[in-house]
Formats: sequence, C-alpha cells, structure tokens
Amino acid sequence: MTDNHGPKGLEGGLTNYGDPDFARYLRMSFARSMGLSAELLKKPVVGIAATYSEFNNCHRLVPELVAAVKRGVLAAGGLPLEFPTISLGEVFLNPTSLFFRNLMAMDTEEMIRGQPMDAVVLIGGCDKTVPAQIMGALSANVPAIQLVTGPMMTGRWRGEKLGACTDCRRFWAKYRAGDLAKDEIDSVENSLSVTAGTCAVMGTASTMAAICEALGIMLPGTAAIPAVHADRLRAAEATGKAAMRLALERLTPDRIITEKSVQNALRVLLAIGGSTNAIIHLTAMAGRAGIKVDLNELNRLSDTTPVLVDLKPTGPFYMEDLHNGGGIGAVLRELKPLLNLDCLTVTGETLGERLAADDGYVDREVVRTLAEPLQPHGGLVALFGSLAPRGAILKRAAADPALFEREARAVVFTSLEDLSARIDDPDLDVTADDILVLQNAGPMSPSGMPEAGYLPIPSKLAKAGVKDMLRLSDARMSGTAYGTVILHVSPDAASGGPIGLVRDGDRIRVSVANRTLDLLVSAEELAKRAAAAPPPAPEPVRGYARLYRREVLQADEGCDFDFLRAQPARP
Ligand code: FES
Repeated sequence: MTDNHGPKGLEGGLTNYGDPDFARYLRMSFARSMGLSAELLKKPVVGIAATYSEFNNCHRLVPELVAAVKRGVLAAGGLPLEFPTISLGEVFLNPTSLFFRNLMAMDTEEMIRGQPMDAVVLIGGCDKTVPAQIMGALSANVPAIQLVTGPMMTGRWRGEKLGACTDCRRFWAKYRAGDLAKDEIDSVENSLSVTAGTCAVMGTASTMAAICEALGIMLPGTAAIPAVHADRLRAAEATGKAAMRLALERLTPDRIITEKSVQNALRVLLAIGGSTNAIIHLTAMAGRAGIKVDLNELNRLSDTTPVLVDLKPTGPFYMEDLHNGGGIGAVLRELKPLLNLDCLTVTGETLGERLAADDGYVDREVVRTLAEPLQPHGGLVALFGSLAPRGAILKRAAADPALFEREARAVVFTSLEDLSARIDDPDLDVTADDILVLQNAGPMSPSGMPEAGYLPIPSKLAKAGVKDMLRLSDARMSGTAYGTVILHVSPDAASGGPIGLVRDGDRIRVSVANRTLDLLVSAEELAKRAAAAPPPAPEPVRGYARLYRREVLQADEGCDFDFLRAQPARP
C-alpha cells in the first residue's frame, strides 16, 4: 500500500503461516466480514485502545469518546479499529490497582505490537490506566497519542460544593471525630461522585493528565476538560485526526518522551501540587524509554519550581475551575522560563510553538504567577537517610510545616491488619507528638503497595481535635489526600528495608529542610533485629501474583517489572 517506511494498514504484521501472500489474502478476506468497503480496508489503521468497563465508573463515557475518535480518524482518511484492553477502576480492585498497572501495560504493549496498526489512540483516565497505556505504548514504540476521559463535575451537599475524593476524606474524618452523624455521612456519599469522569480534584488521575500534556503526548488544552463537557468530544475527534498525522509521519513516542520532556513533566508535577503517585508512574513511564528519574534531581527541581495551582487537596478549587481558568496551558505558559521549549509534541510542533499559539487566558485565582506563587517551592520533596536509604516522598504542599523539623517517638503498626485492629483502641499508647509508622505495605508486600499511607488519626486523638500528625510508611497515598504523610519509604519492609526494623518507642528524626529521614537506633541493635526478623512471606505459587512478586521493583524505580524496562537503561 505504501513504501516500507509509510503506513502499512491491515497489511502490517502479518500472521505467520510461512506464506505472506496467503496471510494477506486470508486477513483481507476475513476483514471483509466486518462489512467494511475494500477502499476503507486499504487505509492506514489507527487502533483505539478502549477501556470501557462496568467496573470502572471513571470510564463510563469511553464509548462516546471512541465514537468521536473514529469520526476524526475517518475524516482524516484513516481506518479506525477499536480494541479492548484491561481497565483499572481504582476503587473496585483488590488488593490495589497498582498491583495490576503492569499487567495492563503488558496487555496494551502486546496488543499494539501484535495487531496491525499504524498509530494508536490510548483512551484512559482513572489513576493507573494512563501510565499503564503510556508504558505499553513506549515499549511498543508505535505512534501513539493519549486521550483522557476527563474529570467529574462537582456535586453539592447542603449548599456546599463537593468533589471526589478530597471531600470524601474530609467528611470521613469528621464522621470519625463524631462531628457527623451516620445518616449525614450516608447522605454525603450520594453527593461526592455525581457525573462520569475521574476524581474532580488534583488527584492522581488529574495529575497524570497534566503530565501527559506537559510531556506532549496528548493534545494541547485537553487535560482538564470535564468528562461531560461537549469540548471533551471535540477533543476526542481532534485526537483521532492527530493520530492519522502521527501515522503518516511515523512520529513515535520515544521522540516525544525524552529526558527533556520528562523534566518538563516533573516541573509541572511540582507546580500543580500534584499527586505523590505520579512520581512512581512518571518514573515507570520514563524507564520504558531508558530515562532515569532521580529523586535528587526531583529535589533540585522542587527547590526552583513554585506551586502555582490552587486546587484541592491543597487549595479550594476543582478541575472544572482549572479548565475554565486556562487549563494546563496556563500553567505551562507561566512555567515557560523553566521549561525545555524545544521538545516535540504529538501535533508535530515544539512545546515553545504550542505555547506561542496559546490564547493566553488565565484566571489568576486558580493559576498564580511565578512572581506571586502559592508556595515558593515545589509540591513534592524527597527525603533520604538511615530510614530511607533509597528515598521517601513527602507532599509538602499538602502537609503542615509545623511538623517538618521534628524528632519523635515511633508508634508502629506491623501490617494493614494490625493498623485496622489497633488504631482506634482507646488503650493505644499514642500522643499527637508521636510518629505513626506503618510497615509491610510496600511494593513487595502481599498488599501490593496500597494507598494506605494516609493513616487515620487514632480516634481518641481525632475526638480531642487532632487534625494532623506525622505519619510514615512504605505505602502510597491517594493524590486526593492531605496531611503530613511520608510515603514510598525505600527499600520497603517486605524486601528487608530499615523501615521493617522500627519498633515502638524508637526515635525518628525528620528534617524537611535537610531532606533527611533517620532512625536513631544503633547499627548493632538494627543488626540484631534483622537477624531475629521472621522470614519473608512465601512466594505466591502461581499466576500473575507470582510474576509480580518476582519482578516488581521498588518505588524509586517506579514499581515496574525489571524485565519490562528499556534495556539497557541509560545511567
Ligand atoms: Fe478513578 Fe479517582 S477513582 S480517578
């Protein structure tokens, strides 16, 4: 149909029968059964990775996005072919959606590579779906463009604006503290998630959408369009058209996701006060392109990137406000002096060209200026020390600075089960000045690194009015949560990290100013504890759980599987 370097359409990647002509003839004869004309069957093919699932509320409108993408592909002279992949609905998965992210990435990669497509549109949205799709597309290295489902609209409860899921946590904390009755929390439950789409705040899904726009792998101006807005459908149609351009120009994702665009994405992550999960996902995505995200580099960028966006969980606004207030384009324009403007994007333009063409509108209530930011430093910071030799993450934008420089006593929970059994025990020996430590919730633990790092305030302290405490774990935290919570402590307890050796009453020193996190226990004592530690949990005997346990990497390596990263990784 074209030369060797152009689109191959349905003639690409023929099934292997030992006779290519027969394979082509057989494929085209079967393709006829789809009722498509011979003319259409000769067009370049744009695959559409569709992730509709009734187990994923955030993707409820994927079918209409698929239809709009198809319009765009057809209008641009291509053949759109939709295919299903795994879908990950954050709150419907056990043990946790992160456990399945790499499975979805493998599914996406192999279906892109294994089926004849000249380009692919990736439709994702809920937290793990977007990183999984980009990880897969980068490894397959077929021209690819991301489209997100878009955020939910806010709801109202007794006149108050609510959005999933920062307000879910706020109201749950009120209920735990006895400030809300059972019938009231039941009524709130009905008002938090009121439309299709992803969480309405700057949680992980919104952060990943912003990162996609910053990386240049998604169309400009599309990250924050609400799921139910007509602009979302127009964005889908435009994405279909853009995918055809990518197919014709053979613009592969490795030319878009580069060291420089990853640095841009880190800047945006820091400036939007984005989710801590995003650092894991961006590390994993970059790892597929052979790019290392170094937590020391994160700290360097964090020192020079102010927080500009005033969305929940740190501020008062929601994603619909960011969309109306200028979107991620407004953030990128403000960050312009700090960005690598020569990075290529899916439109074929550089980031600099894209920003020059931007209409320039911004609502300064929602997106502040570099000169007058919300906070002078970036939203995330990495801590290192004897308790976290390979690093830990604190979302300082959502934390209480009064707790940043502190030496305190550890109150330890050895597992999620131990936490839920004892956290509300009236006899628990705990004060507001202690540090709550959760062990065995990291990537190597059987729980698969859940979003359990936002340990609840013990109810006896919550009822006494305590709103925040220092909390520390090898777990993750939802991007919609807030508090002084140190996460992703690496190596994790289940792989023998020092966090597993902390005992009740140990002293821990945290210094955000010095970027340190230390366990004040002698090396001799720690060696004794390590020698007496129980053996690791037995490996699962079969299936994906076994593959996961054998291959998963630590948080500082993005929790990808070792064998899926680009080989060899660039230093
Ligand atoms: Fe899907 Fe929050 S649950 S984005």
